[in-house]
Amino acid sequence: MKREKIMAPKGVSEYLPPRSASFEWVREKLINPAKLAGYQLMELPVFEDTQLFSRGVGESTDVVSKEMYTFEDRGGRSITLRPEGTAGVMRAVIEHSLDRGQLPVKVYYSGAFFRAERPQAGRYRQFYQVGVESIGLDDPAIDAEIIALADNAFKSIGLTRYRLEITSLGDQASRAAHRNELVKFLAALDLDEATKARAEINPLRIFDDKREEIKALMTNAPLLIDYLTEESKANFDLVCSYLDALKITYVINPRMVRGLDYYTGTTFEFVHEDLGAQSGIGGGGRYDGLMQTLGGSDLSGIGFGLGVDRVLLAAEAEGVLALSDFVSDLYIIPLGDASKQSALVLAQELRRDGFQVEIAFGDRALKGAMKAADKSGSAYAIVLGDAEISSGAVELKRMSDGQVSSVKMSELKSALSERK
Ligand code: HAM
Repeated sequence: MKREKIMAPKGVSEYLPPRSASFEWVREKLINPAKLAGYQLMELPVFEDTQLFSRGVGESTDVVSKEMYTFEDRGGRSITLRPEGTAGVMRAVIEHSLDRGQLPVKVYYSGAFFRAERPQAGRYRQFYQVGVESIGLDDPAIDAEIIALADNAFKSIGLTRYRLEITSLGDQASRAAHRNELVKFLAALDLDEATKARAEINPLRIFDDKREEIKALMTNAPLLIDYLTEESKANFDLVCSYLDALKITYVINPRMVRGLDYYTGTTFEFVHEDLGAQSGIGGGGRYDGLMQTLGGSDLSGIGFGLGVDRVLLAAEAEGVLALSDFVSDLYIIPLGDASKQSALVLAQELRRDGFQVEIAFGDRALKGAMKAADKSGSAYAIVLGDAEISSGAVELKRMSDGQVSSVKMSELKSALSERK
């Protein structure tokens, strides 16, 4: 009896060979600038106490109100699969008193995140982020460094068709002054009950409403950037001047609203031109009150999350992936049991020296094995039979053009590295 196939849950992203190599390459590129700037790995649980997100990320957000994977564990505790990384990092910093050590605490993370969104291209229910957080100091130069880490990461991948949008949500006084005016403005509009309820928790959210009629109503809404206190404005100007010095281009978008409620001060988003509706390839900002909200001291922080899945899509759209980086150096085709042993030993020696080496197993006929070598994309292939073993020399075949040269086994390493 044939059993029914089991499929992956709807909307998850998964990466199989050969595309998984591109995924891994992109992820490393996204992490690397943070490592070069002294950020260290934080590996955190993918599930946390639900309150961490409802309190940390904010009840008015879609993420908390509609998209969390929440369940009761066997001990009756409410658990949520992490929808984002910042709250978890902050939880760990507070729990392990890292804020009593050297500041800022500088960490990066990389892993799976979960949001029950409506799946579409570039929007998944399980997706991958690389993130960094710098916690404990409020300095515009850190804001600029953080933005530069993300920008450098995208540039190192070769992306060009993206833009950086930034704004400032100011300090508490700026937000209070603006909120006053915005609430007045919203009160005069004819909004439905659900929208009013959202506005009551966070009136800024209405700027994020995707409905055309609401967008039109918001055209003349007061903008937070016009209500910045002198200090907030000076801070933001400094961030911009540092970005200018770093030759990072940006557009100021005072209507930007991030999907999470903890942001204050500098906030930013990277938007890619080729990705359609799901164009945000990364975003972040400063979060002044988050640590206190989660039971810690009153320290500021800033960070970003980059969407690995979307960056991969962007890299594919721009055609910047060098797939030849991912193929083996040598494909060994053993003929018979004795030569299998020699192939295993030879492959082990070469791999110890950093060569990527594959062996054709399965006693295929030579022709079939050669075809497999070709398909593998390997740079070179050799046949290892009794004759080669007794003579100590092999015919090294360059797969790109079929050119063959006779090489002593003892010189295989140097032959391969010369031609690499
Ligand atoms: P976020 O903007 O919600 O920020 O997510 C960051 C990035 O993750 C997005 O720009 C996008 O590329 C990717 N992303 C988000 N949701 C999905 C999805 N459903 N499918 C595929 N990709 C997705 C945060 O999560 C903040 N924690 C970033 C941060 C760190 N802010 C300060 N520190």
